[in-house]
Amino acid sequence: MTQRTYKAVTPQEAVKVIKSGDHIHLSSVASTPQCLVDAMCERGRNREFQNVYIHHLHTEGDAPYANQEFEGVFQHDAFFVGGNVRKGVQAGYADYIPVMLSETQKLYREKYLPVDVVMLQVCPPDALGYVSMGTSVDATLAAIEMAKTVIAVVNPSMPRSYGDSLIPMSMIDIFVEDDSPLFPAHFSDPTAEEIIIGKFCAELIEDGACLQMGIGAIPNAVLAQLGNHKDLGIHTEMFADGVLPLVESGVINGKNKKLDNGKMISTFLMGSKNVYDFIDNNPMVGMMDVAYTNDPFVIAQQPKMTAINSALQIDLTGQVCADSIGSKFYSGVGGQVDFIYGASRSDRGKAIIAMPSMTKKGVSKISNILTPGAGVVTSRNHIHWFVTEFGAINLYGKSLQERARLLISVAHPDYREELDKAAFERYGSHFYFLK
Ligand code: COA
Repeated sequence: MTQRTYKAVTPQEAVKVIKSGDHIHLSSVASTPQCLVDAMCERGRNREFQNVYIHHLHTEGDAPYANQEFEGVFQHDAFFVGGNVRKGVQAGYADYIPVMLSETQKLYREKYLPVDVVMLQVCPPDALGYVSMGTSVDATLAAIEMAKTVIAVVNPSMPRSYGDSLIPMSMIDIFVEDDSPLFPAHFSDPTAEEIIIGKFCAELIEDGACLQMGIGAIPNAVLAQLGNHKDLGIHTEMFADGVLPLVESGVINGKNKKLDNGKMISTFLMGSKNVYDFIDNNPMVGMMDVAYTNDPFVIAQQPKMTAINSALQIDLTGQVCADSIGSKFYSGVGGQVDFIYGASRSDRGKAIIAMPSMTKKGVSKISNILTPGAGVVTSRNHIHWFVTEFGAINLYGKSLQERARLLISVAHPDYREELDKAAFERYGSHFYFLK
């Protein structure tokens, strides 16, 4: 018989199911089930269990389980290092599992990681007995499929999105109710440099392109420059407020998409309430499994697929670090490589890494070698376009010495001489002949 009703319990009652050694998956970003996190941490504080593993992508809200006070109680092994767990990961009492965003679901489906309990938020059920996972599907759908127990917070603030996000109530074991507003994600206004970067990226984006934009300040700076473009589409892992005016004006219409024509496809959202309201009962948006959105071979099928992602550092050979500052983990690989590779395989696609030439503290982000401890996210074999406020260059098919020359040309002028000298030391006087 189809399930259409539920009996709600308190968060405290719901988390009683957690026991020592369990692996817990939390849904991400706006969907983070804070009332369950708080109730779980209360039990942790009372030392009612030990060695409980916590897995998630980027979450919003408080994440006390990653704090030192819970050593031995929680083992935080996240797939992305967001601001709320960064300190714990950098100090070593919380941890990070490096994994492509496309494969986070595979960790569960192929049993590299067990899932005992999933905790997520959903919208209230519809007349057919379905709830929607709303703003976050990502690896949570896979976790639900594999979990022993699924605890869902029914929250009227959660939009009813379409796509893989719609699941029957029968997939949920324990229901909790909460009407807290969803967590908004804040992005600072673009700096003068980021606005110029947005303009360079906009020049690379052709009419009819299908866009993915990663995380950070650059995406909104790019979107703000696309008002005169035509027939853009969205196939991405996340989107934020910057797309809304472009949908309103008809610039984003998905007309040129080969897959999901006319629709915007994403796996999670990260923005203001306006973005969450936008997807509510909106048939134009499909919130899909990350196994689909981030599969490079799906991405590659979209003509003119254009992926724009940001980074922390690049060396003179084109190796890109986007997850750590030296050996200190700052974020994660996320979907950067999924989309850079997918876009590079698409018909007339463009893979773009865009970032200011210097940090706000005046450190060059283009350096001779990566800082010791920094890992490569986008390899020198994967990189194509690279953009700073000093221009857009294409490194693909270029030799090491040509790359160094091009990268120095878009470095901050204060650092060009130093980088030039470093290239000379690497390559000898031949480096100057090339000029
Ligand atoms: N050396 C030292 N510090 C550096 C640095 C460098 N080369 N580059 C950046 N930083 C510091 C900045 O000063 C800033 O410090 P603060 O927090 O004290 O202000 C911090 O690192 C973040 O830099 P910023 O340029 O503000 O980052 P951003 O918000 O634009 O995000 C990434 C850039 C790379 C962190 C972000 O795009 C990311 O997390 N990427 C992950 C991979 C990806 O692209 N995935 C796809 C989407 S999931």
